[in-house]
Amino acid sequence: MNIAVLASGGGTNLQALIDNEKSLGPSFCPYYISCVFCDKKSSYALQRAEKAQISSEVVSPYAIMGSEIAKNASQSEKRLAVSNRCLELCTSYNIDAVVLAGFLTVLAGPFLDKYSGRIINIHPALLPKFGGEGMWGNNVHRAVLAAQEKESGCTIHLVDHGCDTGRILLQKKVPVLADDTVESLYARIAIEEHKAIVEGVTLLANELYY
Ligand code: GRF
Repeated sequence: MNIAVLASGGGTNLQALIDNEKSLGPSFCPYYISCVFCDKKSSYALQRAEKAQISSEVVSPYAIMGSEIAKNASQSEKRLAVSNRCLELCTSYNIDAVVLAGFLTVLAGPFLDKYSGRIINIHPALLPKFGGEGMWGNNVHRAVLAAQEKESGCTIHLVDHGCDTGRILLQKKVPVLADDTVESLYARIAIEEHKAIVEGVTLLANELYY
């Protein structure tokens, strides 16, 4: 299964996928990372891709629309422009499935239909709780702590036209401790995320091909 990994930030989940692919080797790994797309040119995921000799593309609204147009575009115009560019690239790279590994642009438009059932996302909480617009990164962990939850974790789910609403493929749970900070909770969840992302892509490959 040829995959594109889409990331915006540090790319530790991308790294988990790279490391697993390397350690299993091409005969045993159920996926092949064909390319990495980033909607921020400063994303460290781009450097991780380069180090692993994986092609990468910057899909920021600025790169796609030009800075003058992007500056005046609405959020939904930018989301559509990024999504349409991703679709174009996925077609040209012959991509079978797409992995959102901390990708901050909410995808929209024909890309979602063309790759329906073939796009997965990792979310740093136990959906359906703590999902939706604005629930990303530390906002999620802050909300979990404010709600005095006893557990949190991460979710791998299919992506549909909603935000964090697609069918859940798997979840991993961690306890929330009394003295947790956003940072300590994130660190505990990140360990589980790096296993979940590999399991999630493997599950998807099994669903689609075996
Ligand atoms: C992860 O916590 C993921 O759940 C969320 O964004 C973060 C990405 O981290 N969607 P990284 O860039 O993979 O380190």
